[in-house]
Amino acid sequence: MAIYKAPRGTHDIYGRIALGLEKLDEYARTVFKKHNFKEIKTPMFEDAALFTRSIGEATDIVEKEMYLFQDKKGRNLALRPEGTASLVRAYIEHRLDMEEPVGKFFYCGDMFRYERPQAGRYRQFLQMGAEYLGNPNPNADVEIILLAKEILSKLNITDVVIHINSLGCDKCRPVFRQKLVEYFSSIQDLCDDCKRRLEKNPLRLLDCKIDSRKFQNVPAMQQCLCQECNEHFNKVQQLLKTVDCSYVIDDKLVRGLDYYTRTVFEVRSSAVGSHDAICAGGRYDNLVKELGGQQIPSVGFALGSERVLLAAEKTNFFDNIKTNDIVFVAVADEFLFDKAFAFANDLLINKNNICSKLNLPEKITVEGPLYNKSLKAQFKLADKIGAKKVVILGNDELVKNQVVVKDMQTQQQELISL
Ligand code: HAM
Repeated sequence: MAIYKAPRGTHDIYGRIALGLEKLDEYARTVFKKHNFKEIKTPMFEDAALFTRSIGEATDIVEKEMYLFQDKKGRNLALRPEGTASLVRAYIEHRLDMEEPVGKFFYCGDMFRYERPQAGRYRQFLQMGAEYLGNPNPNADVEIILLAKEILSKLNITDVVIHINSLGCDKCRPVFRQKLVEYFSSIQDLCDDCKRRLEKNPLRLLDCKIDSRKFQNVPAMQQCLCQECNEHFNKVQQLLKTVDCSYVIDDKLVRGLDYYTRTVFEVRSSAVGSHDAICAGGRYDNLVKELGGQQIPSVGFALGSERVLLAAEKTNFFDNIKTNDIVFVAVADEFLFDKAFAFANDLLINKNNICSKLNLPEKITVEGPLYNKSLKAQFKLADKIGAKKVVILGNDELVKNQVVVKDMQTQQQELISL
């Protein structure tokens, strides 16, 4: 018989990681809602051209990593590699700009990239992201950075470095691009990817994992920023200082997606591979227009949930995840099984306030009764699953409308009338 395994680069999420993801989701939603971001859900697949147009033809994502397929009608579709393009498509399609002057949205969901799998890098992974549309002011850039930082700090991930850079705008980036072309043309033995990108997208060379060591004294974008972009970048830094948010300027930070203008940032943690960010984002002032909408300057970020949890392994986050106390319903006499089943149901719905009568908290997890098991076997199981209390239903007690509640920690038993 064939033995099936999860496809390479995917992973099953269960146990403590599933609990961790649930908690991260809860924390992130609380932070997003506090900042008045509203949830939006978009499809997991889109017209492939949407991503080519927005992320950029000469990016790794579009060139090598997209999961492309045709449906039965021959439409060219792609599993989404990220959330921003889909969100902007939905924003334009539903004229969401008409509803509110600024649009603040958040999303959570699976993304797909055909990357080389390693720790914290998957082919199907989870992102939570926020997009702030319609605010050109540097305060929006800083709010987005702080939002990311606030979510991480809820998981006690504070050992992070925030890298920031400015990629300028349509006015000043061509100057930088030209300087880069001149610089890179003088470097010998560029790798094949870099040679190709030198013509199509020279900024991407700054991100090359193979050649970057050869790039000494490479020109920096900041030397080429126009006055407006320079002022914007300075203001971002000034606001970050005002709110005591430390950062480093990283003039090699170019990001793997082409839609960015001005501010870009990445949050890195030593707990995850040195170059892999746990969350990242930036400003994209032209994307809405490029995809057919108005000129709506925007900024956003996304965190990789698996990578955030990897960083959280170094904190006390997992130890502090609280789950409901488990109450195990045990049946002493087999013929009482149906009664025990009904009793467990009463506990689940807290019928007639039964939990307080039994000195149990209102939020509990109920396990049992288990069919055809000796009382000893039931106790063994209750112990194994970490039950706090076992409620034992026996005939002698039930005729007097009583049950026995055993505290598994102290081993003390109490007879309680219902
Ligand atoms: P990104 O940097 O491509 O940006 O991805 C954001 C985050 O997703 C990364 O920092 C990382 O934590 C996680 N991530 C990316 N690829 C993988 C992978 N293969 N496995 C696990 N985690 C991964 C974006 O996607 C932009 N849409 C962010 C953005 C929002 N910019 C503006 N608005």
